[in-house]
Amino acid sequence: MLPGDGSGKDVTAEAVKVLEAAAGRWSLPLELVHLDWDADRYLKTGETVPPGAFDDFRDNYSAILIGAFGDPRVKDNKHAADILLGTRFKLDLYINLRPVKLYDARLCPLKGRTEKDVDFVVFRENTEGAYINAGGNLKQGWADEVAIQEEIHTRKGVERIIRAAFEYAVTHGRREVMMSDKSNVMQYGHGLWRRVFAEVAKEHPQIQTRTMFVDALCMEMVLRPEGLDVIVTNNMFGDIITDIGAALQGGLGVAASANLNPGQTSMFEPVHGSAPALAGTGKANPVGAVLSAAMMLDYLGHQEAAQAVEAAVARSLREGQTTPDLGGSLTTSQVGGLLAKAVG
Ligand code: IPM
Ligand code: MN
Repeated sequence: MLPGDGSGKDVTAEAVKVLEAAAGRWSLPLELVHLDWDADRYLKTGETVPPGAFDDFRDNYSAILIGAFGDPRVKDNKHAADILLGTRFKLDLYINLRPVKLYDARLCPLKGRTEKDVDFVVFRENTEGAYINAGGNLKQGWADEVAIQEEIHTRKGVERIIRAAFEYAVTHGRREVMMSDKSNVMQYGHGLWRRVFAEVAKEHPQIQTRTMFVDALCMEMVLRPEGLDVIVTNNMFGDIITDIGAALQGGLGVAASANLNPGQTSMFEPVHGSAPALAGTGKANPVGAVLSAAMMLDYLGHQEAAQAVEAAVARSLREGQTTPDLGGSLTTSQVGGLLAKAVG
């Protein structure tokens, strides 16, 4: 458990209640270890990640549940980058799986859409692309300053995320995999994506395929979300389109994610940030964290428990038993309590 900062602490406390209820009901061998890697600790000690911590995670833990990182006192977000991106990179969690599922029609900002219209998943590449922090500034602050920001795409990295998307489509009865890029402009990197996608698609004749430039996909997501099924894309585009996805399902408060390297220690986190203004007010929505915990249960092989948690969330959303961001009047802790009771 890495609750992190601000409302990250509030929402993970509720996810813990739900996990403990599930562990009780299904006799799951749940052992939670809480780590206080937050902005306070960083500001006090200057340390973001203790030495050897990622090796320890890899060797001694099944999964990591993160709340959110970000604190107004840490302007450059150093601890967030080291911890969050560090976990993704150092554990080689190459799949960022972000389901976009509408649990209650009222939560969708689009006119006339119902639950069946918004139900797709995004496979976001999670270890390379624009996130590798390669580049530099020349003559910083001068009138002729130069900034270089590179993105890297490797055949291995591209192929494994595309394969993961196809395998998911096969095992989850999905119809289509769409690959989204901007290869009309970024010919080298995204050209590689196109070629690898075509190769892997050939091995899965039972799955339909489509490619779409990411700008067109942004439009498609709000005009015809019902046509979307499994989307695979690079790190940066996956980041951007999953915020649109979160909006389609009711906002960042409900969006969940899994950062996976199948068979290895993987990490689960709500898509939202630390929302410092909401911290401690009882207004933060714990559903994104609870659904991320459900994805963790599923990953760890506890499908029945995972489905029960998801069903409890779906019911609470349909009944309007929610925090104020979704129009309800319950507090963070009341929502967590209610979900724990429904599961346990
Ligand atoms: C996300 C976030 C992160 C990202 C930030 C906090 C670095 O926006 O998980 O979507 O860009 O990946
Ligand atoms: Mn994001």
